[in-house]
Amino acid sequence: MYDLVIEDGTLISGKGRRVADICVEDGKIVYIGSRPAGPARQKISAIGRFVVPGFIDTHVHFRDPGHPAKEDWHSGSRAAVSGGVTTVCDMPNTRPPTLTRGDFAEKRALAEARSLADFGIWVGAAASNVDEARALAEGDAPLACGIKVFMGASTGPLLVDDATLVRFFEQTRALMGVHAEDERVLERYREVWAGRTPPTHHDSRPADAARAAVARLVELTRAYPRPVHVCHVSTSAEFEVLEPVRGALPITTEVSPHHLWLSTENDLGNFGKVNPPIRPEVERRAMWAALKRGLIDTVGSDHAPHTREEKALDYAQAPSGMPGVETIFPLLVGAVKQGRVGLERVVQLCAENPARIFGFTDKGHLDVGFDADILVFAEKELVRFTAAQVLSRVGWSPFVGQKVAPKPERVYAGGRLVAESGSIVDEARRGRLVTPTRS
Ligand code: DOR
Ligand code: ZN
Ligand code: ZN
Repeated sequence: MYDLVIEDGTLISGKGRRVADICVEDGKIVYIGSRPAGPARQKISAIGRFVVPGFIDTHVHFRDPGHPAKEDWHSGSRAAVSGGVTTVCDMPNTRPPTLTRGDFAEKRALAEARSLADFGIWVGAAASNVDEARALAEGDAPLACGIKVFMGASTGPLLVDDATLVRFFEQTRALMGVHAEDERVLERYREVWAGRTPPTHHDSRPADAARAAVARLVELTRAYPRPVHVCHVSTSAEFEVLEPVRGALPITTEVSPHHLWLSTENDLGNFGKVNPPIRPEVERRAMWAALKRGLIDTVGSDHAPHTREEKALDYAQAPSGMPGVETIFPLLVGAVKQGRVGLERVVQLCAENPARIFGFTDKGHLDVGFDADILVFAEKELVRFTAAQVLSRVGWSPFVGQKVAPKPERVYAGGRLVAESGSIVDEARRGRLVTPTRS
């Protein structure tokens, strides 16, 4: 007997769509097709509905165990699954900064105890930990989903200088995820604006910082080939450098929804302060053009949930970052409804490509043998996103007021129904560590 059968849905993959049943047993997809499914503990009809793989957000900062107002694994993962993100990868610049095996074990235990979503964990790069990062991210059974490098200082303590970056290229081979803003360029602009408030945050960290960083990454990847995932591209300058080497070097790219939906014309004050910054409108449009032209591989939220109180500080003190894990699906599926992108492409960006790039071989596809992480939803009229829909503990979103698709009607994680139309219906599910298989 199957645990679950989802009947007659329209299944979407990057290759196209077909109507079929999905049968689930022990958290896995065990059959897809149209022969009569036979008995099941639970059967649902998905006639007239789309069925897609659970989204994988490889870029969240779930942050702060023990802080009463800040996100933690419980609140962050509730927000994630409510919005159809069934796998998250957590960045290393939170508490504790994840640099050592001990830090890794600590974060893993927190997530295992509290996360409704499956989770990967990045190890951070620092001058002190090349060997430990390699041990965590490489070998026969790597634990970390990749090595995260901050080339420019952002929120949190992690930053590597060029000499350390070179050592990581020389001495490690695992997927490297990079916050690509060049610290020396950032430093120059700090001097330019010393003691003054720039007109926009973008003026303090303009496109040349991002361009210089990706240019350096291209040089190093050419010298020491290994997979590099450039996080949150935000400027056409980065594509001027990356497009000529696309396919020739193993460099892939991520875009964040805030660089697709927000520009300096949205007057969000410190709530719009994020690194890399929200850019002028012309750059926002360039990100859509890049997405259409196939220059972007994944969408990652860069969910960095700082509180309203923190954002109320002066510009200089307010932390950079904004929540976003729960709005990827509403925004992107809303864009499908508006004709700006195809649903097949969204499945590639949010499920298939992250699974391939990170080596998550159980995830990202509706196929036999894969984890039963499944979203079911109908095409609906767009709605205005409101603060009342926010499940993240911070209680705000820079996307309030945007026209979006509703959150998915049903979200299954490992075959269990965890969320329905934006509400959590199973608080008891606990996610597991997702680790890469490197070929
Ligand atoms: O704006 C940002 N916030 N950019 C980052 O790189 C880090 C993040 C955070 O952790 O708050
Ligand atoms: Zn970053
Ligand atoms: Zn980030």
